[in-house]
Amino acid sequence: MNVQDLEVLIKGRRSIRKWKKVEVPDELLKKAVELATWAPNGGNYQGWHFIIVKNKEMIDEVADTVQSIADKIASWPEAMAWQEEIERYRKNASFFRNAPACIGVFGGVYQSPMDRVLVARESFDREAKEILGFRRSAPTAIQSGAAAVTTMLLVFHQMGLGAVWLVSPIQAKKEIEAMLKVESGMDLICLVAVGYPDESPQKGRKPVDQVLKFID
Ligand SMILES: Cc1cc2nc3c(=O)[nH]c(=O)nc-3n(C[C@H](O)[C@H](O)[C@H](O)COP(=O)(O)O)c2cc1C
Repeated sequence: MNVQDLEVLIKGRRSIRKWKKVEVPDELLKKAVELATWAPNGGNYQGWHFIIVKNKEMIDEVADTVQSIADKIASWPEAMAWQEEIERYRKNASFFRNAPACIGVFGGVYQSPMDRVLVARESFDREAKEILGFRRSAPTAIQSGAAAVTTMLLVFHQMGLGAVWLVSPIQAKKEIEAMLKVESGMDLICLVAVGYPDESPQKGRKPVDQVLKFID
């Protein structure tokens, strides 16, 4: 594959939120997760876990829970200040119930040797505590999970499938982890909803010069 082909693949992928009512074969889902695990990850610790849910009742249950939490947040008086945006968000909270498959992406805490030193000192060393704060502001487990999800989305796209990365279900983290019987120590990072696309949305990007600076 040359860079032009790769560019077509990368630029051709879009988040898909409408799917055909067609089952996705297990082999494709499994292959996408397998390839996702080849993503770079902190220390090659591979502390991630993936749960593929195809059971319609289970997807509905997760979606209902996410929706009820979104409804609750939208009903709080503080939401009045951003009513229009909140309402749009609330209405879109559980569209993923129509996906033929949802993949839960979970990450375990990864403590590098540096973290261990910092944790041992944080109670009495202000500098160590500050450095630990920097490391915690960009957790390795989340970054590794994100690398896996990005890889997975590209694989799905190449397979002719359409997927969307969903972080909003995190509001129902406790309930989702209980429903999916997630082992302790694993935290929900996001859901990926996937199926055969039933829409072709367009999206652009800022010109790269707007977001890039070279320091020679
Ligand atoms: C970290 C992250 C969280 C996201 N969470 C959601 C979400 O909760 N709901 C949703 O509909 N899309 C979600 N998306 C998809 C983005 O809205 C989408 O990637 C963005 O609008 C750009 O569109 P594109 O993926 O089609 O290029 C998320 C994407 C990322 C990377």
